[in-house]
Amino acid sequence: MSSIDHQVSRRRTFAIISHPDAGKTTLTEKLLLFGGAIQMAGAVKAKKEQRGARSDFMKIEQDRGISVSSAVMTFEFEDNIFNLLDTPGHEDFSEDTYRVLTAVDSAVMVIDAAKGIEAQTRKLFEVCRLRDVPITTFINKLDRETRDFFELLDQIEQDLALDVTPVTWPIGSGRDFRGCFDLVNDQVLFMEKGGNVVKEAIQIKGLDDPKLDELVPDYLVAQLREDVEMVRQMCPPFDIESYREGHLTPVFFGSAINNFGVRELLRGIAENAPTPRPQEAATRTVEASETKVSGFVFKVQANIDPNHRDRIAFIRLCSGHFRRGMKLKHVRAGKQMAVHNPMLFFANERDIAEEAWPGDIIGIPNHGTLRIGDTLTEGEDLRFRGVPAFAPELLQKVRLDDPLKGKHLQRALEQLAEEGASQVFKPMMGADWIVGVVGQLQFEVLKERISAEYGIKVHFEQTPAYAARWVMCDDPLELKKFRDTNQSALFEDHDKTLVFIARNAWHLETAQRDWPKCRFEATREQNMVVAG
Ligand code: G4P
Repeated sequence: MSSIDHQVSRRRTFAIISHPDAGKTTLTEKLLLFGGAIQMAGAVKAKKEQRGARSDFMKIEQDRGISVSSAVMTFEFEDNIFNLLDTPGHEDFSEDTYRVLTAVDSAVMVIDAAKGIEAQTRKLFEVCRLRDVPITTFINKLDRETRDFFELLDQIEQDLALDVTPVTWPIGSGRDFRGCFDLVNDQVLFMEKGGNVVKEAIQIKGLDDPKLDELVPDYLVAQLREDVEMVRQMCPPFDIESYREGHLTPVFFGSAINNFGVRELLRGIAENAPTPRPQEAATRTVEASETKVSGFVFKVQANIDPNHRDRIAFIRLCSGHFRRGMKLKHVRAGKQMAVHNPMLFFANERDIAEEAWPGDIIGIPNHGTLRIGDTLTEGEDLRFRGVPAFAPELLQKVRLDDPLKGKHLQRALEQLAEEGASQVFKPMMGADWIVGVVGQLQFEVLKERISAEYGIKVHFEQTPAYAARWVMCDDPLELKKFRDTNQSALFEDHDKTLVFIARNAWHLETAQRDWPKCRFEATREQNMVVAG
């Protein structure tokens, strides 16, 4: 196996999707425990050899106050490298989450055993389904009172239209919960309450093995035998193709807080979850094992220091062997950029990345050149598809307290839009910019940031704006006519794409009816414009 094939085969890049409180944070912590403090061989070496570089980086970080949250956590377990991408946890369902899901190859869906599937789980699942992201299910909190296990499986099957195949099955539940039977490997796993002790599995020869009767009290064995028989009758056997196509989910039961079932889940991901997948670009499909480096920006994180406009762009590598110092082409700008200080992210720290492989996430500090959706390559004009922008649901006019700061405000709004914090629309007529967000809270956050980072006082005002739609039209003459007739409702977003802001539902419907050659899109891929 070539070096790149080997590195690709070791990598699993995934996210956890769940409703708040189901146990995502707890599960993440336990997963990281398995990864321990182990770091990737290349990076460990880098650390030893590059003390200088590391402290350089720390200094840059201190000087400029770059702050990077745990957006990505990389860890190694049993010779596999896992890149766990964090999905933002707040209730305001944000575009950020969608974008993170464009950068993973699979997801783990955590369900609270007492609650079943909840609203946020369902929404996130829908995003995964749109992108055919395979899902592994972890049913959590088995140490508590739970719903009936068959009912839970039934709910996944009915609500999400997914086949379910349990990989483990609980022995007892609630206060009686002892552990799980591993249906694939014929072993019994016992839970140790509290702490992080993981007991070794006990091998048995199937459910009829008398050893099982010695290990588990009679009434629980009887129940287990009955349940497993039913599972085997009702659920399809595990089919890896069906899982990878997103039709079937393997189900693990556990208790994250007791670190129970987590190792099995991790092994399940290692065994079945896809390695870095081929990525669709506008011109062709890029295979992970191709030798030339390519990747795309799926997240930009701002600097909190108001004196500097530094940001970290998070790049998902799609192909090739990346090495520090490489010159990559920033396709949108048509320019080369040397990547001197790429970062890798571990459980509790980050470090300069000496190298990285497909599926890995590197952070590139920059001054705003890199935007969400941008592609980096070793020269080819690739544009990866599928980093979406959504028409914001809430639209308000932004007003300056000091009208002389117009130019400054424009810069602030554009920079914040490039980060993906909001969307801004510049009017074709008049001076009032409109800002669009997904959750109401974001207006407050923006106001604060514009004040703290740019020293500009603004307030947001209601405006008759019902919906924003990107306008596309294949007929330039028709588009010109449309522009000329609708000026007062037309805006440009930060990529200079034409946007129609309808005053109300009727206004939107009329425009759609009167201009059948124009498309009014509620989503759009980021940065479709390529320079040169
Ligand atoms: P989230 O990130 O999905 O929002 O969930 P988080 O891990 O924060 O877990 C939510 C609550 O559920 C926490 O309790 C956590 O301790 C608890 N929890 C997680 N896994 C299990 C489990 O397997 N069994 C039981 N019984 N509880 C579990 P909390 O009271 O909100 O916080 P804390 O004070 O315990 O930290």
